[in-house]
Amino acid sequence: MIRPITASYFIGVCSLLLFSGTSLANSGESIYQQVCASCHTPGVAGAPKLGDKAKWAALIKEGQVQITAHGYVGVRGMPAKGGRPDLGINDFAASVVYMANQSGASWKNPDDAMLKKIDAEIQRRQAQLRK
Ligand code: HEC
Repeated sequence: MIRPITASYFIGVCSLLLFSGTSLANSGESIYQQVCASCHTPGVAGAPKLGDKAKWAALIKEGQVQITAHGYVGVRGMPAKGGRPDLGINDFAASVVYMANQSGASWKNPDDAMLKKIDAEIQRRQAQLRK
């Protein structure tokens, strides 16, 4: 009797994981609220404010790969990973998408190919900063 229960439990967990995978758009917003809003809502230390289209236009033009990687590594007043060392690149990237899309972009959460490019840019940037 144990096996069928285990199997259905397993299927339940899998569909839960699948579901959370497809709701990344929400998770970008919730990560934004939890980690980024303290600076990016009021615009602390020159942080580009959420919804400030004029300020975001230049960043959007720079491109998703570039600004996601540079924000993740940290740039001037922007702490690496938004000051949360445990924040993974997928979650960070999703919160960047949320912010950019509230500010004039229509970006999607990065696919594997884009994540590779972001990773390469992170490596390049970190090497540059070590010099
Ligand atoms: C302690 C304040 C602070 C927090 C928290 C913070 N940021 Fe920032 N962020 C800044 C500041 C300041 C800048 C402007 C840096 C500059 O260009 O001088 C910035 C810039 C950025 C940029 C533009 C990077 C570039 O290439 O110019 C991105 C993208 C970004 N933040 C994303 C995020 C995300 C996503 C989070 C949350 C996960 C976050 N930030 C949390 C302060 C913060």
